[in-house]
Amino acid sequence: MGMPISKAVIPAAGLGTRFLPATKAMPKEMLPVVDKPAIQYVVEEAVNAGLHDVLMITGRNKNALENHFDRATEIEAQLEKKGDKRRLQEILHSTNLANMHYVRQLDPRGLGHAVLRSQMHVGQEPFAVLLGDDLIDPRDVLLERMIEVHDQNFASVVALMEVEPNQTHLYGIATVEATDAPDVVRITGLVEKPDPKDAPSRLAVIGRYVLQPDIFPILEATEPGSGGEIQLTDALNSLASSGVAGGVYGVVFTGRRYDTGDRLDYLKAIVQVAASRDDLGPDFVAWLKTFTSSV
Ligand code: G1P
Repeated sequence: MGMPISKAVIPAAGLGTRFLPATKAMPKEMLPVVDKPAIQYVVEEAVNAGLHDVLMITGRNKNALENHFDRATEIEAQLEKKGDKRRLQEILHSTNLANMHYVRQLDPRGLGHAVLRSQMHVGQEPFAVLLGDDLIDPRDVLLERMIEVHDQNFASVVALMEVEPNQTHLYGIATVEATDAPDVVRITGLVEKPDPKDAPSRLAVIGRYVLQPDIFPILEATEPGSGGEIQLTDALNSLASSGVAGGVYGVVFTGRRYDTGDRLDYLKAIVQVAASRDDLGPDFVAWLKTFTSSV
C-alpha cells in the first residue's frame, strides 16, 4: 500500500499581467467566476477529491487570498443580526472548507520553482498540484480518477486533454503509449510549449498533477527551460523518460474544463458556468439567445 494522498498544492504567485489593470491591487485568483473567486473552485475541487490539506504558494499582493479563506467576523455578525442564513452559510463555507497553509514563492522563477517551495510542507508523501487557471466542472470526475491511477501504479499522474494543433505552444505536450485502461496512457516524454511542427502529439497537460515526492530532487536539479523558467514539465520529462519512481501516467480527460487564463477564455468560462447554474442558468441562457441574435 502506498501512502494515501491528503495534500494539495496550489501555485498562486503569478502577477496576473494579462488582466491588468484589474490585477494591479488584487490577485488574479480573486477574479469572480459568477459569484465566487476563481480560486475557491479549485480549493473545492481538491476537497471534493478528499484533499483537506491545502498549501497555497503565494507572493506579494496576495493577502486577499488568505483573507478569503479566513473568518470575516464583522460580516458574519452583520448577517447574523439580519438573519440572512444563506449568505452566512456561504461565507462560512469558504472559511471551513480546508486546512489552509501558505508559503511565499519569493523569486518568480517558474512553476517548477513554485512547486519546489512546497517540499517542507509535503515531505515524503505523494501530493496533488492544481493550477488555478484551469477549472474542472464539479459534475465531471478528474482528480479522483488520477488518484486512483496513482494508487494502482505508484507513479506520478498528469491530466491530459486533446487540443487543436495551433494550441500546442500554450501547453506541456506528451508523447504517450496506450495502456489497458482506455482513459489512461503511459507518458514517455513531455515537452513544454512546443511549436505545432515540433509537437509530439495533441495531448496537452491541463493543470492537474498527482506527484511522487521523488519530483523534488529532480526539480532541484532542473535548469531553467522555456521562458527562462524552471519548468515542472521538464522535471516530469526526466521522470517519464527514466521511469524513476514509477514514471509518469496520463489520465485523458474528456469532461468540461473552463480556462480562465486570459480575458477571452475568462469571459467564456463565466458564461459557461453561469449557463450551467440552476439558479441563474435558465434566465441567463434565455437572455443570451436574444442578445446573440441581436448583435
Ligand atoms: C502551465 C504549465 C504547462 C501546462 C499549463 C496548463 O503553463 O507549464 O505545461 O500545460 O500550465 O494550464 P502556464 O499556463 O502557466 O503558462
